[in-house]
Amino acid sequence: MHQVYLYGAGGHAKVVIDLLKSNHITVPEIFDDNPDISTFMGIPVSHAEIRSPLIISIGNNLVRKKIVEKLNNLVFNPAVLASSVTVSDWISIEEGTVVMQGAIIQSSAQIGKHVIVNTGASIDHDCRISNYVHITPGAILCGNVEIGEGAFIGAGTTIMQGIKIGKWAVIGAGSVVVRDIPDNVLAYGNPCKPKKMLTRWVGKYVIINELAFLLLFVFFLSIEKGGNK
Ligand SMILES: CC(C)(COP(=O)(O)OP(=O)(O)OC[C@H]1O[C@@H](n2cnc3c(N)ncnc32)[C@H](O)[C@@H]1OP(=O)(O)O)[C@@H](O)C(=O)NCCC(=O)NCCS
Repeated sequence: MHQVYLYGAGGHAKVVIDLLKSNHITVPEIFDDNPDISTFMGIPVSHAEIRSPLIISIGNNLVRKKIVEKLNNLVFNPAVLASSVTVSDWISIEEGTVVMQGAIIQSSAQIGKHVIVNTGASIDHDCRISNYVHITPGAILCGNVEIGEGAFIGAGTTIMQGIKIGKWAVIGAGSVVVRDIPDNVLAYGNPCKPKKMLTRWVGKYVIINELAFLLLFVFFLSIEKGGNK
């Protein structure tokens, strides 16, 4: 029977463990930096040697990236898809990625490494999803959408066709994205608008420069006014 090791014993790991179990894949051991955890969902937790093939079972995109970079000599597991996923034969999907129950991935979509396509998310034709992205439950990406590295797409968000979401952007839950969103921006609402600039996102958001955000907001408004003429 196929075995996969996990790195990270938190909330996202619970879902990954169930995904693997439904694919008849066993998890013999989980690695975690927290020395206080010795078992997790009945699986022994180790703080020593990390084995492969490995999946980084941590929901935070930047933390996932940092761990992958630290462990770049290890073998990461090929993408794992739930059996209930509807997926075209004409997609590419890379190592370390997990696709949860009920997701739909349509023709010619490209999905990078260590991506999370969460429960019931829908990724339509020709979408390009970069490494370390998290498409959270119920998000809908229309055709030809591009998502930059490390971006977080909040639950139930709808992204219109052809839109580009910048690297490490965070899109709030329930947003409707009708314009491109730049790199490192927190944006939400219907229509979705930038609200804050972010540094790289490690668990919380940090405003890096109020002036930069003001300029960005003015730029965004001027595009909107131009578009409404
Ligand atoms: C967008 C988000 C990141 C903002 O977090 P935050 O910066 O801590 O924002 P706050 O909770 O302080 O809210 C600030 C304001 O924005 C509003 N707001 C927050 N999220 C919003 C959203 N998704 N849509 C519309 N308005 C939102 C709040 O109501 C609040 O408004 P107020 O100032 O008028 O009271 C967060 O609310 C969000 O949507 N996270 C995604 C959750 C998700 O999808 N999880 C999936 C996990 S698998």
